[in-house]
Amino acid sequence: MTPLTRRDLLRSGLALSASTLVPGTVQRAHALLARYPALESAGALPPRQRLLFDFGWKFFPGHASDPARDLGFGKGQGDFAKSGEFWFSTQKFDDSKWRDLNLPHDWAVELPFVRDEEQNSHGYKPLGRRYPETSVGWYRRTFDIPKEDSGRRIVVEFDGAFRSALIFLNGYFIGRNDNGYAPFRFDLTDFLNYDGKNYLMVRMDASFGDGWFYEGAGIYRHVWLTKTDRMHLAPWESIVRTTLSGNTAKLSLGTIVQNEGKFENCRVQWKIFDPSGKEVATAESGPLIAASAQPAFSSVGTSLSNPAPWSPETPNLYSAVVTVESEGKVRDAERINFGVRDIKWDADKGFFLNGKPVKIKGTCNHQDHAGVGAALPDRLQAFRLAVLKDMGGNAVRTSHNMPTPEWVEACDRMGMMMMCETRLMSANPEGMAQLETMVKRYRNSPSIILWSMGNEEWTMMFQPQGVRVIDDMIRRAHELDPTRMCTAAANTAFDTHFPEQLDVMGFNYNLKVHDAWHKNHPKTPSVGSETASTVSTRGIYSTDKLRNWVSAYDLNHTSWSQLAEEWWKFYATREWLSGGFAWTGFDYRGEPTPYGWPSINSQFGIVDMCGFPKDNFYYYKAWWGSDAVLHLFPHWNWEQREGEPISVWVHSNLDSVEVFLNGKSHGSQKVQPYTHLEWKVPYEPGVLEARGTKDGKVVLTEKRETIGDPETIRLTPDRTEINADGEDVCVLRVEVLDKEGRPVPTADVPILFKVTGEGELIGVGNGDPNCQESDKEPKRSLFNGLAQVIVQGNRTPGTITVEAHTGDWPPPKLPPTQVTVTTKKVELRPSVG
Ligand code: GAL
Repeated sequence: MTPLTRRDLLRSGLALSASTLVPGTVQRAHALLARYPALESAGALPPRQRLLFDFGWKFFPGHASDPARDLGFGKGQGDFAKSGEFWFSTQKFDDSKWRDLNLPHDWAVELPFVRDEEQNSHGYKPLGRRYPETSVGWYRRTFDIPKEDSGRRIVVEFDGAFRSALIFLNGYFIGRNDNGYAPFRFDLTDFLNYDGKNYLMVRMDASFGDGWFYEGAGIYRHVWLTKTDRMHLAPWESIVRTTLSGNTAKLSLGTIVQNEGKFENCRVQWKIFDPSGKEVATAESGPLIAASAQPAFSSVGTSLSNPAPWSPETPNLYSAVVTVESEGKVRDAERINFGVRDIKWDADKGFFLNGKPVKIKGTCNHQDHAGVGAALPDRLQAFRLAVLKDMGGNAVRTSHNMPTPEWVEACDRMGMMMMCETRLMSANPEGMAQLETMVKRYRNSPSIILWSMGNEEWTMMFQPQGVRVIDDMIRRAHELDPTRMCTAAANTAFDTHFPEQLDVMGFNYNLKVHDAWHKNHPKTPSVGSETASTVSTRGIYSTDKLRNWVSAYDLNHTSWSQLAEEWWKFYATREWLSGGFAWTGFDYRGEPTPYGWPSINSQFGIVDMCGFPKDNFYYYKAWWGSDAVLHLFPHWNWEQREGEPISVWVHSNLDSVEVFLNGKSHGSQKVQPYTHLEWKVPYEPGVLEARGTKDGKVVLTEKRETIGDPETIRLTPDRTEINADGEDVCVLRVEVLDKEGRPVPTADVPILFKVTGEGELIGVGNGDPNCQESDKEPKRSLFNGLAQVIVQGNRTPGTITVEAHTGDWPPPKLPPTQVTVTTKKVELRPSVG
């Protein structure tokens, strides 16, 4: 058979997608990212100012039980008795010895690991009531407010912080927020010094947790200072609802005007812009009267003809500029993004997007990443999403909490559907507040297709209280957003009647009950809210219980879960199942199932903590994506196993695959849908090759070669130019190469890094679930040939040089290498000076 040329392939319309064991995924992910515009900050428009409040903070680790080590706070005698006496948030307090840092910040990732089985699910970090000395952090920021701001409303907004925040300003207690995921805001107007210095103090206490996974600690999302006129649009109240019928989209536009002043007349205007920025529609309210006790509701309509629909393949985003005017003067304005798309859930035919059936190919994800813990720079959100998109994924679930805004925004912009989940399933005030915040905050996002009321509430599912709670939650979610269905991730291991309340049934695991459930509930649509929990270690090909490694062949899962191949074959072949969300896309800290110490992170991911693909990535890519895929594994360095049969697997969606060792065929096999191929090949060094055939022609070939010893280090930045904005990051892949320049797949060489120029190292990782090296030190061992370094630019344009060397560590001694990344001048996001 004659192999086709690259040109033949392009003509045939088949994309080239043979994998390499050292993955090109990150590169492909960035090529994908480059197709989408840079992420924009939230849409404040003049006269509103929304200033990023991330830079220039001071930090001090306090103490959860000893007031003497906690700035004397909390002695228990009238701690909150007098609002104006919190001296540590006044000029009297000297913070000059405190650590300087920028937000977002997670102090948990900086802590050492502790061998304490109680901390297993949180990644063995010393946080909680038994660790008072490492569970509290104080953040302090001094800032100016000009005289001209007097008369405006000035609000501090936290996108989310972990946990139990107490906020003080200029000696006054401002407020508290307990949960670790929902955004919160406080109006500072009355407490500010105008034309002078202001001292904001935030005490974060991570003594209590919200979840059974790694949650981080500190102000790990953005903070904003927002200044508005007294008359302003109420937060998260501007809504665009679209109804698509034929070639026309009807737009219902609503907002609320608040006026923290006297009664005044006003009017709301809407301008709608298409994805290219062209104005395509307008609408205007009649006269309104707004006052604080009587906010003005405005609701108008307009329409769009031939709208460009939103979908994962075409993430077309429209925007609406909402303006409130009074006596000819613009008092407040904001831009919100929305998409035009139509979704439908059908009990028999699954999920429909824009009139077409679409199988949900989803992953659940926690929010932490290698090196940075929960404090992800925005760019990393897009980076992670690009990895999942490259795999063919079209949906994510924000398990088990309200997501960071930049994750949702990345989904809107890059095209990824989302099941958006609240943390607390409860109709108590806190539970309802979290739910309301989530729905209001994100209801304009086209990516969100389903609200989730919670996950695996074992007790509630069997109680009458549970039924009432879920009823109340769903009713409220529908009031706030009548356009989306609600679900909850339910344990179908138990025969519970609780899900009768759900619009869409959410199955977690247990494929045995699905068919019977569907038969008994023929009118309820369903989705696999959580599936898989397949376990594997990247680059490991035989399970080693002593070293806490699980083979990366698709062979291992927990007692309650399934292999990738099992669950997806099951879902793919049932039309009524809308698809599902595999647990998980990325490995995450905590839950190191099936092991404990020294494993500090989960092994459920399809990619590791850094985003390096495990082999199952290519199973999903083959059956989820649209490219032709041929992935051959394992590596071919089995020096100790000469003559022994090695399991050779291929994930492919071609017609058939033939495997050769050193030119000798080991047979051709036909690909069965949703199934891998497997050979036993006696080991001898050389070249293992797979040739994949489509319509009788070899269209892809893939090789694994026996690689020599490490000779050089290679650093590969995901981009060679980043923004000099103090926020953007460059993600570098670290490998060692043999003398022929081929990556060594088994290397575990320790590498040292030196970062100079206009940036700094903010984290390192290698995807090893057992690695307890520091995430923050400039050194990391490779794990099965790979490590990752994350470097962040400062706000001075120039260059960053990253050097890698092997230092004084034991051999191999490899020559140092370096790469230079340019940081380019960009317009900075408006921020607090
Ligand atoms: C599920 C749970 C997830 C995770 C997973 C591990 O039951 O919802 O949060 O713990 O098990 O398999």
